[in-house]
Amino acid sequence: MDRLVVAGGHVLRGRVTISGAKNAALAILCAAIMSEEPVVLENVPDIRDVRVMVDLVRSLGAEVYWVSPGNLYVYLSGPPVEMPPYQQVKQLRASNLLLGPLLARFGWAEISLPGGCNIGVRPMDLHFKGLAGLGARLSLERGVIVARASRLEGTRIYLDFPSVGATENIMMAACLARGQTVIENAAKEPEVVDLANFLNCLGARVRGAGTDIIKIEGVASLGGCRRYGVIPDRIEAGTFMLAAVATRGEVVLENVIPRHLEPLSAKLREAGAEVWEEGDRIFVRAAGPLSPVDIKTMPFPGFPTDMQPQMMALLSTVPGTSVIVENIFENRFRVAEELKRMGANIKVEGRVAVIEGVEKLQGATVRATDLRAGAALVIAGLMAEGETHIENAVYIDRGYFNLEEKLRGLGAAVWRAPAGQETDTGAVLL
Ligand code: EPZ
Repeated sequence: MDRLVVAGGHVLRGRVTISGAKNAALAILCAAIMSEEPVVLENVPDIRDVRVMVDLVRSLGAEVYWVSPGNLYVYLSGPPVEMPPYQQVKQLRASNLLLGPLLARFGWAEISLPGGCNIGVRPMDLHFKGLAGLGARLSLERGVIVARASRLEGTRIYLDFPSVGATENIMMAACLARGQTVIENAAKEPEVVDLANFLNCLGARVRGAGTDIIKIEGVASLGGCRRYGVIPDRIEAGTFMLAAVATRGEVVLENVIPRHLEPLSAKLREAGAEVWEEGDRIFVRAAGPLSPVDIKTMPFPGFPTDMQPQMMALLSTVPGTSVIVENIFENRFRVAEELKRMGANIKVEGRVAVIEGVEKLQGATVRATDLRAGAALVIAGLMAEGETHIENAVYIDRGYFNLEEKLRGLGAAVWRAPAGQETDTGAVLL
């Protein structure tokens, strides 16, 4: 697999345009198969996870193609001829978001149970609780979730945890159920709101998305939404904000929704960076010394878990002691081991990581273990002395559109190298 090489010491300056949100686009692509008419999705990032989801939706018999860069035509005219094969489903956990749409429109779904992944077990009990509550009959047959329902009936569902995926699956299924569905303790992430807005564009009747109580009045069918634009990616934006601060640079992010980034902006200000907003732009500057901060990841509007590894990278060179508590996933500190290979001083105990800032990181050959860990290693490489070679760079391609080009546009020295190329890693003083 390719490596991403980052030469440290370059200050990031300039403007960068943020792409569409991966986690909104994936859910909305699943919802689009509920429509009885074609729809064009706009501002869809052409990233690896979206391409996998496009293939999955095509395997159901849908017509899906790019009408122009970022704009995707989607139309599933009738019942799927077959369900997506395991080989495809296992590549993308978000394939589980096809359950609700297939069940609602066709009364049948067979999706392989996505295994755990590098950040945790990631069970689906809340998805099943909600779909069963709507009247679906669910069984697990040879690793495949088999769901059937003659007609879904509205119900009241309490989510023990505000799961993003479970909220989305249940909300989509409820749109075509008979009567009202109430989801209590629902996830409030911006991507959930974007999905609800898309469903309403299709003629659904979803109210309360963005709060912890979502009410859905079932309708007979969905359609009539010719075009829909996906929101900007707050996690890509946050990654660039941290890269700017990490290199003590000055960057303007364009095409963002500032209030989606408030948890991160607040933390960066607390650390001593300057962050200010103007319309759909955010300005980030960090000239002077930074102070250590404590982070607790929480469901939105708390600090996002998807920004936690990137924040750990930044804090590894902030003088003093910073503490991170990861409350969402049970195994999301794996990047700490890679950062320690670069000289970081991080102690992990369960869901708590204690970071003692060091003067400088050293470039090294490191390995991305998941998408956001890969992004964290890019930030570390931007700060480090010498070159950092990031193996498994394909993980980064899952969630970042044109990352190298965008970083080079800001003055970074970053490029691809074939796997296995020797590196000039410096010694790491222990
Ligand atoms: C979504 O995953 C995102 N993925 C994740 O982003 C993100 O980290 C996560 O939400 C939390 O914000 C997409 O939207 C495609 P959850 P999801 O269900 O829906 C537990 C990235 O890097 N849980 O909110 O799978 C679960 O174990 C990815 O872009 C149950 O216990 O997240 C976890 O501890 C990584 N039972 C917690 O809830 C369930 O039935 C949050 O999971 C479902 C979840």
